[in-house]
Amino acid sequence: MDALEVLFARRSSGRLVAPAPTPADLQTILRAAAAAPDHERLRPFRFTMLSGATLDAFGQVLADAYDARCVAAGTEPVAAKRNKERTKLGRAPLVLVVSAVRRPSAKVPWNEQLAAAAAAAQNACLAATALGYGSMWRTGDPSYDPNVKASLGLDEADAIVAWLYLGSHRDGAPPPNDPDLDGLLLPWPSRSS
Ligand SMILES: Cc1cc2nc3c(=O)[nH]c(=O)nc-3n(C[C@H](O)[C@H](O)[C@H](O)COP(=O)(O)O)c2cc1C
Repeated sequence: MDALEVLFARRSSGRLVAPAPTPADLQTILRAAAAAPDHERLRPFRFTMLSGATLDAFGQVLADAYDARCVAAGTEPVAAKRNKERTKLGRAPLVLVVSAVRRPSAKVPWNEQLAAAAAAAQNACLAATALGYGSMWRTGDPSYDPNVKASLGLDEADAIVAWLYLGSHRDGAPPPNDPDLDGLLLPWPSRSS
């Protein structure tokens, strides 16, 4: 696939199966992620790979964090929701967590550091697509949970930008994206300017 074909071929797959990216392919995916545009080369992105036993163990972290959120909110944990937190990482054989770590900078505000980490996440998805793997970018409540961040070695001020589910397509790759540009182009001068 050429680069433009990869861009349109990247589609989300909710259920991915083994095989996960090989170690060599994973290395390529991570290098692609780290090649993201990055103002002042602050390298504000970090990557955590979860697979096999660590993927399973992190499910317990998510379940415990769900319980703690319920306690903090004064609500009773719901067994089905707890179980979903416990098992949801199993929707792919490998999950790559992309985080943004705050770097001190007078020139590069936090939102630009977040943007660099998001670009890294997208690069990882595109590299996975180019290598023939499926992917899905997810977030959700655990992304904003200080206990989950701490478990990943992040500070509360850092951000979990993406949980990238990576693996092989069960029933073939989804059809390529065919985006509609209606309403996306802002004329300028605009009516209000
Ligand atoms: C920052 C971000 C967070 C997302 N979080 C979720 C999520 O938690 N659950 C979900 O179903 N889709 C989530 N998505 C959307 C999917 O990744 C996907 O882009 C969307 O379903 C459109 O499908 P496509 O990628 O095949 O075009 C998120 C996307 C982004 C950019």
